[in-house]
Amino acid sequence: MKPNQLPELDHSKKLNSNVRLPRRLRSSAKLRDLVSETSIDIRKLVMPIFVQEGKGIRTQIQSMPGIYRYSPDKELDRELQEISDLGINTVLLFGLPNKKDAFGSQSYDASGIVQQALERIKNLNNDLVIISDVCMCEYTDHGHCGILSTDGKVDNAKTLMSLGRIAVSHARAGADIISPSAMMDDQVSAIRTALDSEGFSSVPIMSYSAKFASSFYGPFREAADSAPSFGDRRTYQMDYRNLRESMKEIELDIQQGADIVMVKPALSYLDVIREARTNFPVPIATYNVSGEYSMIKAAALNGWIDEERAVDEILLSMKRAGADIIITYFAKESASRSKGMKL
Ligand code: PBG
Repeated sequence: MKPNQLPELDHSKKLNSNVRLPRRLRSSAKLRDLVSETSIDIRKLVMPIFVQEGKGIRTQIQSMPGIYRYSPDKELDRELQEISDLGINTVLLFGLPNKKDAFGSQSYDASGIVQQALERIKNLNNDLVIISDVCMCEYTDHGHCGILSTDGKVDNAKTLMSLGRIAVSHARAGADIISPSAMMDDQVSAIRTALDSEGFSSVPIMSYSAKFASSFYGPFREAADSAPSFGDRRTYQMDYRNLRESMKEIELDIQQGADIVMVKPALSYLDVIREARTNFPVPIATYNVSGEYSMIKAAALNGWIDEERAVDEILLSMKRAGADIIITYFAKESASRSKGMKL
């Protein structure tokens, strides 16, 4: 029976009736656990990792306390070991190249930073699932997510060619899932075609389908040194006033062959996650982005918020909204708590 089908409550008799007392199920922690509707599953958390060209590097990102950039050597090995010891199965790789140029050519170089990291991880022989982010903003000297045409606008068609090349080079280096985040039209189809023609038809695509032009990417742009040198990303990323349009973006991506779709950021977009969950049968991922991490961290470091409870509450809100997969810089922290381990 739906709540709205219950007979009218007579408030004068409510306390004696003893029928509907929701607090009955809240009286102890174990009872609350028994009736809880959602939970965090470590196996569905994804930890983002920044890899940087060089040796012996483990540098903390100033605006993201607890998150580091690693060189693709022992530093990265150690971090990955820690991640898998915590029971996290999946990571999302971002690369910081030594050289940037107008065409972001390091992004598809066979010896580029992400390609090096992928090969190293594969040789470590651990069975982590490695997702690679496919975009150009970390590799272009102007910081936009694609190739510019002469008028300074991002050229969709030219960028698609590069995204296809990046995807193939990542697959060749061992990426398990390809994840395009450039927000170019038809990027999923371009990447699917490129992967298939090079023999990678079994490599899935997780598309950043509903990616909004958000102020919450600020700390990431420090981490990945990828802020645009002019203008902003509003001609390709979505306008955050639009929910229906986000469903159109997701639908187009699924039609083009996306295996997993993503809503990004997470916290201000729980309605988008819910709507996507209701409308589409594919796995839904959400990205709890850098600014969302930094806000909690900053408040916690000031003693203004209980970090442990705040993290649990926000991750559960994403689950409750309908997310299957959560990409979060809190992955290690959350996993270590569930396992009763210290980081
Ligand atoms: C690349 C990309 C960005 C993020 C993920 N992939 C930055 C952006 O679009 O500016 C943001 C992730 C975060 O803020 O944690 N385009």
